[in-house]
Amino acid sequence: MVIMEGAPMLYRNPNESIEARVEDLIGRMTLEEKIGQMMMMGRVKPKEDDSIGPLIVGGANAGRGPYEEAAPVEKWAEMADKWQEAALRSRLGIPLLLGVDAIHGHNRAYRTTIFPHNVGLGATRDEDLMRRIGEATAKELRASGLNYTFAPCVAVAKDLRWKRCYESYSEETEVVGKMTSIITGLQGSPPEGYPKNYPFVARGGNNVVACAKHFVGDGGTEGGKTDGDTKMDEEMLERDHVAPYLDCISKNVCTIMASFSSYNGEKMHAHKYLLTDVLKGKLKFKGLVISDWRGVDKLHKLKEGEEVDYHACADLAINAGIDMVLGPNPEKFQRALLSLVNETKVVPESRIDDAVRRILRVKFAAGIFDLPISERPSPDVVYCELHREIAREAVRKSLVLLKNGKNKPFLPLSKDAEKILVAGNHANNLGYQCGAWTIFETGDYADRKNGITILEATKEAVGPATEVEFEMYPSSNTLSAAEKFKYAIIAVGERPYAEYTPTYLKTEPLLQPNVVDMICSVADKVPTLLILISGRPIELEKKMLDKVEGVVAAWLPGTEGNGITDVIFGDHDFEGRLPFAWFESVNQLPKDPEAKSYNPDRFPFGHILTYNKKRTDPEGDMDNGGPSSKRPWK
Ligand code: GLC
Repeated sequence: MVIMEGAPMLYRNPNESIEARVEDLIGRMTLEEKIGQMMMMGRVKPKEDDSIGPLIVGGANAGRGPYEEAAPVEKWAEMADKWQEAALRSRLGIPLLLGVDAIHGHNRAYRTTIFPHNVGLGATRDEDLMRRIGEATAKELRASGLNYTFAPCVAVAKDLRWKRCYESYSEETEVVGKMTSIITGLQGSPPEGYPKNYPFVARGGNNVVACAKHFVGDGGTEGGKTDGDTKMDEEMLERDHVAPYLDCISKNVCTIMASFSSYNGEKMHAHKYLLTDVLKGKLKFKGLVISDWRGVDKLHKLKEGEEVDYHACADLAINAGIDMVLGPNPEKFQRALLSLVNETKVVPESRIDDAVRRILRVKFAAGIFDLPISERPSPDVVYCELHREIAREAVRKSLVLLKNGKNKPFLPLSKDAEKILVAGNHANNLGYQCGAWTIFETGDYADRKNGITILEATKEAVGPATEVEFEMYPSSNTLSAAEKFKYAIIAVGERPYAEYTPTYLKTEPLLQPNVVDMICSVADKVPTLLILISGRPIELEKKMLDKVEGVVAAWLPGTEGNGITDVIFGDHDFEGRLPFAWFESVNQLPKDPEAKSYNPDRFPFGHILTYNKKRTDPEGDMDNGGPSSKRPWK
């Protein structure tokens, strides 16, 4: 239906139904404007007038935000507002989706609240906590002028060699499904009677559009490769990997991101059956499907020096059901898609209209047409006391006690020891504590400028008479007088890594030999608590395990390191349950319990240990390994 120029702008009327507004607006759009909406560009250097230039796009990925070092959120908001104002100056004034990877807080920006990564949150099994984390994250994003996050990742990670394990809540589908309550925090709760499976974001400027990712089977690839192949029959794919998307859709998730991986040899970004027939047909998903960054470009296997042929990629991806393309060359892609519709006719305009309807539906449902740019929380909400408390609670609840004493309980530690030793290269490093996707995708040297390390938290927690000595790798000199230390706390683990981390940077799930030696040399002389900072279970050599008095899995806790000291000094008890079975040796990976060589896990999925006693777990009797030992691993 084409709406004549001059007809009253029904789409601008917030009292009209979303579908009526969609139909009115799409009827006014040219094909160029429709295809423009299907592009989400990357972070761009502001042009002279700070606009996004003549380009008409549907959104932008803010990436690392403003082009200035350690930009405060006010600068993010300035950048976002300039982009938004440029879009509102276009002929139909369609606002942008302004997204970023806020996957454990507003983690690309400085001085924000960094929550534990998903692997730790999965250990909490706490749906209400997840909702509150979503609410806090949404407020810090809106204060930055953004209205969209590429989260949550609902991968069900099955191979612990995957360099994105920490983005998965658990190896168990049911646990991942419970954690999707973060979507209700991010987007808000729809009113009674709001249609299920239909996009929703609460009004008022405190909530954002969420994105369940990466559809589907990203955690089930052979060898744990990010762009690997998930090989299984459809019944197992639906049971293990599709199921969490039912939870997301029933929570009105607005967008779903396609996975780089393949299913039985067919790339997900070109998988019409799963993207269209299953997700949009069978599961009745009414929001938009967005590509991963360059996910469409990657459909074209480039030879040396070859340019991406967007004609081939656009044909495959758009016809398969991708609605919005996240990538670096919006102009090139738009030209290619225009010719595929107008000239070669390989992409029917009806497919373009379906994609654009979904994009407009999300934008109307999210209220970004109606919400004035300035309606958002004040920057004071960023890293505020309330958010820090939620993050500290999340850290506490994520900790899993793996060992407590050889003959008698070793924890809780005394706050009134005369002298204690703190060691390990993760004891005083916020970058390691926060993990990847913190400022940089690969985290690491994330100069946070806010947060509290394990060492700082320990100094705060102990009594005034207790002396805390820190030595990353205690020297033989220090150890020659080891009797002066009542106990030692050693924090070690993995350096941050992400899908972009070069493979030469070994990311095996284990501790380096020199670290193991250091732990053993200290533990031989001083009663030692080992705190593991890692994105997944890692190999714990038996000799080392036997020497230390206590072991705590702290995952990637984020800025609030005092959540750890709250528990190890006894102010709170342990509540965390293993979200992944803890393998005995990396040689066991990938795990296949049916295989002859398989040994039982060091610690089973669901393992829980508290100060009082072992608790049997509603997920099944932990003394017998819980549900996962009864589940095929494929
Ligand atoms: C990356 C990740 C995806 C992220 C996207 C946008 O490639 O795979 O999780 O949301 O790019 O930054």
